[in-house]
Amino acid sequence: MMPIRLLPSIFLVLGFFAGCLPAQIVDYTVVADYATVQPEPGLNLVAAAYGAAMPGPEIRLVEGQTLRVRFINNLPEPSSLHWHGLAIPAGMDGVPGISRPPVEPGQEFTYEFAANESGTYWFHPHTENQMNTGLHGALIVDPANPAADPPFDVDYTVFLDDGTGPLTMAMGMGGTATIPAFPGTGTLNAHLLNGRTSAGQVPFAVSAGQKVRFRFINVAAMENYVVALDGHPMTVTHADGRRVVPVVRQAIPIGIGERYDVVVEMNNPGVWSLAASAITNRSATLVRGIVAYSGATGNPPSASFVPNHLSNGSLLDYTDLAAADAVPVIAAPSRTYGITLGMSMGPGPMRFTFNGESWPNVTPFLVAEGEEVRVTLANAFVGPLMANEMWHPIHVHGHLLRLMNTAGGLAAPPVKDTILIRPVGQGTSTQTFQFTADNPGAWMFHCHDIMHMDMGMMGLIHYTGDSDGDGLSDKIDLDPVSAYPVLTVDSAGGGFALGSTVHLDVQWPAGNTVWYCFGGEVASPLDLGLLGRLHLDPYYVLGLAVSGSSHVATLPVTIPADPVIGGLVVPLQAIATHATLAPGGRISTFQRLRL
Ligand code: C2O
Ligand code: CU
Repeated sequence: MMPIRLLPSIFLVLGFFAGCLPAQIVDYTVVADYATVQPEPGLNLVAAAYGAAMPGPEIRLVEGQTLRVRFINNLPEPSSLHWHGLAIPAGMDGVPGISRPPVEPGQEFTYEFAANESGTYWFHPHTENQMNTGLHGALIVDPANPAADPPFDVDYTVFLDDGTGPLTMAMGMGGTATIPAFPGTGTLNAHLLNGRTSAGQVPFAVSAGQKVRFRFINVAAMENYVVALDGHPMTVTHADGRRVVPVVRQAIPIGIGERYDVVVEMNNPGVWSLAASAITNRSATLVRGIVAYSGATGNPPSASFVPNHLSNGSLLDYTDLAAADAVPVIAAPSRTYGITLGMSMGPGPMRFTFNGESWPNVTPFLVAEGEEVRVTLANAFVGPLMANEMWHPIHVHGHLLRLMNTAGGLAAPPVKDTILIRPVGQGTSTQTFQFTADNPGAWMFHCHDIMHMDMGMMGLIHYTGDSDGDGLSDKIDLDPVSAYPVLTVDSAGGGFALGSTVHLDVQWPAGNTVWYCFGGEVASPLDLGLLGRLHLDPYYVLGLAVSGSSHVATLPVTIPADPVIGGLVVPLQAIATHATLAPGGRISTFQRLRL
């Protein structure tokens, strides 16, 4: 197994122009690989995991810093990192085939983006069977001004998860749908809190008088939960990472992908159950953690104990939420979309649908930069079949969703990235949100129930323009906000073994020439202004190609079959010409090829 390779270090990169504020870069390395994890004593499970742990390593930085993550994929399948909840440039969003090609087995990719919003986020792959393993971690962005958060003494992250292994869903009429387990991993039919079953819990240590912040993250494949702490009300302070006007409740529904931060006053000494149930049945505890006051001597509550707060406590509702830092819905929408969430019963296999369409046969929703876009999501499924399955935690990538019809009204709507749509007949099954189209590119939005995703409940948002003016429309541009060529490495299915042929691809407007270079890697890239950032020193030209009608220039390279070079990491960059773009040439993004 790979050792944990998590190397946080912070250093300063001097601004290019004197007087620029230095940008702080925080570096991490995340390795995806098999690991043996122990959800409870005596139970060893092989899982796909980050940094050999489930959940994976916490990534933490301060608002305004730049996060740079070197992701190494040692899994036997292509993978990627998606940064759930952060509105970052499209090329860094980690959706295979949409944001960039996936990271092939044995290869790596460096994600780099500014963390401009504080809050609780998480990262995971964006492939259905991989989202049902141990592959998830927390990304916590602390506010630049600590006073922007409510005061707390201790900070605990609480992941809720529903085990790993093959998934099956009854489909009525006797059929089932399945998502196979990730190859080579074990099966666990239990719910997990921080990667452990109720039998494997490590108590959360607290002291009387403390204010304890819990950051709840639902990373499950198919389960929407309710979570409650026995003996203590919770003050909800953040929804999906963004601060809300504090609201006190005893139980919190949390859809897949959602996050809630709460602060709890520790004023009731003892040993307490922090319990989660299915959202569809609050009277059965699926997993529980233990909150233990220092000095308290009682036994931990039993795993099946159902705290009163869980079964009957006051439940948080979206209508309770108002943003603490108000971003009003100022403008009337420039575009309005109504989306019905439904199912198609055939002909053919049953599918989940947005407006009757099922991935990948979908019509993108078009937006233009600067528009205000209002979307209404309406659950349309009515019928006796599978009523419990009709909860849809809908997640939109890359944008901040201002949820309407809440305590915040139009002046202070809560800002979310995942919105749980209830079944018809169980409260409000329709939600409306508005977002500003301020992040050009191609973006996914989808149900975060991976069975529903797998059965087609995914859609696309396409920007209509070319915001960086590089001749590639935003919807296909892998770097839509800066006019630089994008270099990717592709084995074309042949693997990266010595002697095999790989393709160096550069996305760049058709008809333009691209030189491919390799060389040594400089510690900090040389900023050449409009030309780009040069990472190689010195560099050697590998070859040249011209981008064709699909906007890609491809150079096939055969890796020498020489064992001496096995294990080498080769830094790559390209230099591209452009007929109209000043100054006539640009240096590509940087990439490493692992031999
Ligand atoms: Cu948490 Cu599209 O993902
Ligand atoms: Cu769904």
